[in-house]
Amino acid sequence: MKVRIAPSLLAADFARLSEALDVAADGGADLVHVDVMDGRFVPNLTFGPAVVAALKRASRLPLDVHLMIENPEETLERYIDAGADWISVHVEATRHLQRCLAAIRKGGAKAGAVLNPATPVGALSESWDDLDYAVVMSVNPGRGGQPFLTHSIDKVRRLRDEARAAGGALPIEVDGGVDGTNAASLASAGAEILVAGTSVYGQADPRRAIETLRAAARGGVRV
Ligand code: DX5
Ligand code: ZN
Repeated sequence: MKVRIAPSLLAADFARLSEALDVAADGGADLVHVDVMDGRFVPNLTFGPAVVAALKRASRLPLDVHLMIENPEETLERYIDAGADWISVHVEATRHLQRCLAAIRKGGAKAGAVLNPATPVGALSESWDDLDYAVVMSVNPGRGGQPFLTHSIDKVRRLRDEARAAGGALPIEVDGGVDGTNAASLASAGAEILVAGTSVYGQADPRRAIETLRAAARGGVRV
């Protein structure tokens, strides 16, 4: 299994997003993670569809758009139209998870569901067939640079096992506090996509940081 690295623009300089996209591409990133916050589901505000569309024009890397917004069913089509390649919604933010996932797929993007730290893996037990990926939050959503919650490693393992038991193995993404100290454990637990904000853009050499993270993750990959 190849581990994919998704640098998170949340930790980049918002006045220089196109440079951050170039850094991701040069460093060999597989996806670019875009954190959309609405000031309601989480206190912070970040970008909306217009910025996602601009990012899409500025990079050939797939955009992995993480919607931290209430009632995403009301606006997610705008992110599809903006060119998002992967779109994830929080199970805590919608009463219509299946409707959201179906709409994302209908729009031609990959559909993901995100679990907050306190949300059990079982929240996805009726959704395997509707999902293209699942995201385990390893911090509480809303800002970057928070410490990694270590119970997330076991949660990834349980999510992988439950998905497999249901016959629906799917890529698991981990978001929050990911760095070289936990990448190998996450990969060996079954994480396939590692989101990294501070551990990429917060480093002196972000291109190299992507390679370092990939090498660390590779240490934990079972073949
Ligand atoms: C947090 C965001 C993350 C964030 C991770 O709400 O979903 O994607 O950018 O940042 P780090 O890697 O710094 O924890
Ligand atoms: Zn995120």
